[in-house]
Amino acid sequence: MSSRVESAFIDHRSEWRDLKSEPLVLPSVSIPTAVRVSANLKTSYPIVVGPVDRLTECVAREDLPRRHAVVVSDENVWSIYGERIWKLGRDTWGRVTSVVLEPGEGMKSIEKLSHLHDRAFDEGIDRDTTVVAFGGGVIGDLAGFAAATLLRGLPLVHVPTSLIAQVDSSIGGKTGINHPAGKNLIGSFYAPRLVVTDPGFLQTLPDREFGSGLAEVVKHALIADEALAVWMLDNWTSILERDSDVLHIMLERAIRVKIDVVEKDVLEHGQRAFLNFGHTFGHAIEKVAGYGAFTHGEAVSVGMRAAVHLSARRAPEADFEIARALVSRLPVLPDPATLDTDALIDAMKVDKKARAGTVRFVVLDVVGRARVIDDVEVDALRAAIDYAKTA
Ligand SMILES: NC(=O)c1ccc[n+]([C@@H]2O[C@H](COP(=O)([O-])OP(=O)(O)OC[C@H]3O[C@@H](n4cnc5c(N)ncnc54)[C@H](O)[C@@H]3O)[C@@H](O)[C@H]2O)c1
Ligand SMILES: [Zn+2]
Repeated sequence: MSSRVESAFIDHRSEWRDLKSEPLVLPSVSIPTAVRVSANLKTSYPIVVGPVDRLTECVAREDLPRRHAVVVSDENVWSIYGERIWKLGRDTWGRVTSVVLEPGEGMKSIEKLSHLHDRAFDEGIDRDTTVVAFGGGVIGDLAGFAAATLLRGLPLVHVPTSLIAQVDSSIGGKTGINHPAGKNLIGSFYAPRLVVTDPGFLQTLPDREFGSGLAEVVKHALIADEALAVWMLDNWTSILERDSDVLHIMLERAIRVKIDVVEKDVLEHGQRAFLNFGHTFGHAIEKVAGYGAFTHGEAVSVGMRAAVHLSARRAPEADFEIARALVSRLPVLPDPATLDTDALIDAMKVDKKARAGTVRFVVLDVVGRARVIDDVEVDALRAAIDYAKTA
């Protein structure tokens, strides 16, 4: 592993093209450990997959200010890694302020944002203060938005610790908080200057959170990386056992899918919609079951079962066996069979991603290639949901 970790930053543009033009055999050590991604039309930033101890070197290499860091985390993560990150922060920035919040979605609130602002000013921040988001997607979204809003934008470094944060929320620059009117309704696109993703953090992630993150990895494979899908199926047991080499490879591949999609559609006008595969169903499941009953990832897992069924109905000649096998293996704790099909169909009409009265679904043409459709008949929806409830 160490020789791969040494690899220098690589300009993503040429590298990504090269990777796609050659057939890829997994597992492969030819995948670089660091890639750069366009964060918006002007910026790019490295995503480094490797031990978090590389933070100091990466910050220096990126020529980021090294005077003061405000590290935002949650109690779960900080109780395990706080001491180590504190020391690393001191080595990297000299001065560290830690702000440790309670865990959970409730932290993505205007009150907690305001609390972060207050703490930051109490600590005498200036334009050279770096905000470090050290935790899962909740911390990433909240601390990212705080960084975007403090002094009209402070340097932001993501150190994601959950699987969802590592393959999804730390990439693409979406930050924000919730509003009583809905989730993620207040926020901005704000790019980090650096992302350091350490697969080692996944060893302490609770099983249910790990399973939820796997749903997004499977999603990435199904919409854009058939080789990853096949490889995941072959390595399923090692993935669940959290074999560190296997996780490293899986993360790099899944991250690359997200980078590719985001690069093509930074501001979410088109292709980024593919990332909603399984999500039209998934959002309906979260709502109908009552928020919190299914984790987001579990709802998306069941949603992807429905989406695969829908895909097979529209492309009967295509082979979806790999997709079916993967989505049915994803762990889902609550029993989807108890969900009411009609209630789900009703809920989908008001899905926030729906456009002008038409419900949009992402389907697969084949494993690894997605498409958005908006002409799904209710019969097909019903059949897809019924399949998903027992698959
Ligand atoms: N910005 C985006 O593009 C984007 C994309 C996807 C999701 N999100 C957001 O991300 C959030 C969900 O992210 P999440 O699932 O990471 O939630 P989370 O941040 O609540 O983390 C899940 C749980 O795991 C714990 N945890 C995290 N890392 C750990 C570790 N290494 N060891 C032990 N425990 C650990 C956390 O304390 C928490 O209890 C949602 O708010 C969602 O809206 C944002
Ligand atoms: Zn999702």
